[in-house]
Amino acid sequence: MPVSSPIICVVGARPNFMKMAAILPALKGGDSPLNTYLVHTGQHYDAAMKDAFFHQLDIPSPDIDLEVGSGTHAVQTAEIMRRFEPIIDSQNPGAVLVVGDVNSTIACALVAVKKGVPVIHVEAGLRSRDRTMPEEINRILVDQLSDYLFTTERVALDNLTSEGISEKKVHFVGNVMIDTLLRLLPKAPEASSILAKLASDVPFKAESGSYGLLTMHRPSNVDKVEVLEGLLRQLASISNEIPLIFPVHPRTRAQIRRFGLEDILLESNLLALPPIGYLEMLGLMKGARVVLTDSGGIQEETTALGIPCVTIRENTERPITVTSGTNTLVGTDKAKIRGAVMEVLQGGGKAGRIPEYWDGKAALRIAAILQDGFADVCAR
Ligand code: UD1
Repeated sequence: MPVSSPIICVVGARPNFMKMAAILPALKGGDSPLNTYLVHTGQHYDAAMKDAFFHQLDIPSPDIDLEVGSGTHAVQTAEIMRRFEPIIDSQNPGAVLVVGDVNSTIACALVAVKKGVPVIHVEAGLRSRDRTMPEEINRILVDQLSDYLFTTERVALDNLTSEGISEKKVHFVGNVMIDTLLRLLPKAPEASSILAKLASDVPFKAESGSYGLLTMHRPSNVDKVEVLEGLLRQLASISNEIPLIFPVHPRTRAQIRRFGLEDILLESNLLALPPIGYLEMLGLMKGARVVLTDSGGIQEETTALGIPCVTIRENTERPITVTSGTNTLVGTDKAKIRGAVMEVLQGGGKAGRIPEYWDGKAALRIAAILQDGFADVCAR
């Protein structure tokens, strides 16, 4: 009997890992398991951005790591494409599955479609309507190339049909990132134990429920000195009202150093840490009074956890976190950021409710559809 073709599953950057952690076992499980082949492009390569996640999320080691590393958008995207093409030639896949909106997502989707290989996009149809965001370009293009589009919220279907994509290709399945959150939340350390450990290492005082958690890495917030400095000064000032724990993304760390802004971090009650693991992040989110972020995934995770989130962006591609969830968009306006945090401190913040299908079963819904669609080509 000939060996069946795999579905090549692609990860590249940190937010891809939690999604793939739910999808892979679902595809490989059940009554009609599929053959899979895991590619890591190497877009994120620091141990703190990669290894800790694979381990904590129980993702198997990739079948291949393309080790592309960093570069300009053009260089990084082109390098991923160049290194991914031979994998398609050697594996003869039945399909290529990509997640999210990072450069690895568009690069691998583009290679696949030009080779006549069907593309599956998980987290399709999200739109910020902000084309200065590299991710928005990636999202629009990947969706145009995809044969199966799996969505996390209902508005995605309207976005896709308005761009001429056939409704028949679109499947509303829920949020695989929340599948992983619900599975691993019981394993997350309590915030109090993380804080106790931090307190023994550095002079920083905060108790569970009485600190804020901050993340920031979007180019629009960290790549211009005047924007980054303004934000850091305002966040440092807010940290006098509520201590802020700040795991710093490598991109942000590099910019703080380049612009000589380290002093702002030292003078305040803002605790800058290296990137932390997924379970520690879950524990700190769950114990936080408020989360401040410009991340996409954290807007969703805080909604799932019922923790108030203040998003330091002018727009979001995940509107359900605002309309149903705990998220408030404040942009980079300093008064609005402070106002939103004070509102949470004084009034408790938005209560929110869990969006439809964010129930821990999204990956099973995806697997049921793909196991049906690819049974002939990719069965194990
Ligand atoms: C990428 C995604 C973004 C996602 C983010 C999550 C794109 C266009 N952007 O942004 O959507 O929210 O990942 O983390 O794909 N660096 C390291 N070590 C690493 C990775 C990056 O030091 O392991 C530094 C390098 O200086 C690099 C910079 O971070 O140049 C940016 O990395 P890159 O992969 O280009 O984009 P991110 O900002 O991480």
